[in-house]
Amino acid sequence: MTISYEVFSDISELSPEDAILLQSARKATGNAYAPYSHFNVAATARMESGQLLSGTNQENASFPAGICAERVLLAAVSAVYPNEPVDALAISYKGDRDNSNRPLAPCGICRQSLAEFELRFKRPIRLILGGMEGEIFVFTSARDLLPLDFSKEDLKNNTR
Ligand code: THU
Repeated sequence: MTISYEVFSDISELSPEDAILLQSARKATGNAYAPYSHFNVAATARMESGQLLSGTNQENASFPAGICAERVLLAAVSAVYPNEPVDALAISYKGDRDNSNRPLAPCGICRQSLAEFELRFKRPIRLILGGMEGEIFVFTSARDLLPLDFSKEDLKNNTR
């Protein structure tokens, strides 16, 4: 099993389409609600139509009730555009104690949600991961980040 991804030294090396997407995610970090961790995360999706939509992490005084930016975004996209696939998704972050100069990879639960989104629409989601500056990683499919993933195929003998 091999996983490949591209590494760019900064945003100026990206295609204009990818650069706009990452720039939108960087800007959207300002909309995070993260009063507990002070770690502001944003994800921006480029829909098949070309429309961009952003989500940010939403924390809660009851900590486990908080939701990551990626799943806030996927839930919003799925609720508002239930039949439209996502072509690409950029993730960025800005922390109080972090200089945000390296890519952030999505957490395990978000990888699971991204994988299901890809399987549902039978279309890979291009992932662009970058902080507010510095190196950027580009994956051609979100499922590359979750090899041997659990999916509805695994449930097929147990569900009606
Ligand atoms: N967070 C995300 O929004 N996405 C990730 O992929 C990693 C973590 C959020 C959750 C929490 O609000 C804060 O970052 C610190 O974990």
